[in-house]
Amino acid sequence: MSESSPTWLFTSRHDFEDVLMAQLAACAGELPVAVEMLRSGLVSVAGIPAGQPPLQWDPTYALQVLPEARAVKGTSVNDLARAVVDLIADPLDGVDGPWDLHVFVPAQLRGNPKPPMARRRDLLEAAIGERLQGIRRRAWRQRIAGCGLPVRLVQVLLYDEETCWVSCAPCVRTEVDGTWPVGIPAGLAVIDNDDGAPASSYRKLEEALACMQRWPDYGERAVDLGACPGGWTRVLRRHGARVDAVDRQPLVQHLMRDRQVRFHKADAFAWRPERPVDWLVSDIVAYPDRILDLIDVWAGERLATRLVVQMKFRGDPDHAKIADGLARLRAAGYGARARHFFNDKNEITFMAVRA
Ligand SMILES: C[S@@+](CC[C@H](N)C(=O)[O-])C[C@H]1O[C@@H](n2cnc3c(N)ncnc32)[C@H](O)[C@@H]1O
Repeated sequence: MSESSPTWLFTSRHDFEDVLMAQLAACAGELPVAVEMLRSGLVSVAGIPAGQPPLQWDPTYALQVLPEARAVKGTSVNDLARAVVDLIADPLDGVDGPWDLHVFVPAQLRGNPKPPMARRRDLLEAAIGERLQGIRRRAWRQRIAGCGLPVRLVQVLLYDEETCWVSCAPCVRTEVDGTWPVGIPAGLAVIDNDDGAPASSYRKLEEALACMQRWPDYGERAVDLGACPGGWTRVLRRHGARVDAVDRQPLVQHLMRDRQVRFHKADAFAWRPERPVDWLVSDIVAYPDRILDLIDVWAGERLATRLVVQMKFRGDPDHAKIADGLARLRAAGYGARARHFFNDKNEITFMAVRA
């Protein structure tokens, strides 16, 4: 069994590793770190000194972070479980709140629902649980398994049959409620298939809501800009919100007939609500500068408590525009975060909450 020095791992949507690596180099600034792509959707950074402010390492194109991960080896599942528990037992002793355990394999990062090594992963998760329960019963009882916000997250990446990367890090509350590391295995939200959805884009909004760990409450008021054919409006309705949907084109029929949906055939950039609403969501296809103007209006005039707004790019992602959007949201008094989700194409999602 061998052990390496800590390395930070980051996951991303596959095909966006280059963008993530450039962002990580920017996060490092003058620090002499080594950034390397290990696998599809998996990037490592070696040389990050201990005690770094975690949210300095929150690049838009990372889906998940495994801070201070260590590699352990073992030929059997039990050997691996023993090596994992040796690393995590002491830090979990002092945990003062709920914690969670995520065990995953690299192929999951490509969205593979039946990845190779899935059985070994499940056996390993069970073996870690059994062993930990045996020697640290009090800590084991505080495991939350999936719901609520963890204060500490144990992540075990079964890298190959005989190697695991293990991270056991405190979770930091982000500006938009959820945590970093995010409390979702590999940063990949589990989204139920919705066969009745008029567009697959509903997945992008579900990912943003899962990242924020906040969903519309029953009866909350939401505005959906650029709503046609209605994928996002349907998500908002399924969570119970009443929706003002704005587009030049109508929505699909079942949403046009829904009495909790008011459709407005209008220019989404000019349309304003009669009074501030709980949610603004926007999936308008437009140049980034127009989205920045939209942010200025909606955040500047405090027209919504929470915002989920997409910015789309032609060619390379424009990091200056992303930074500008975040700065404008913060200047208007919102906590803000930007993310490139698994279901995002050449686009990112701003999430914001009024402070
Ligand atoms: C990507 S689609 C939205 C898909 C939608 N979120 C869904 O899940 O079904 C973008 C929409 O923005 C609308 N749009 C673009 N510019 C607009 C504008 N200035 N005013 C109103 N709608 C606009 C387009 O008509 C189009 O329906």
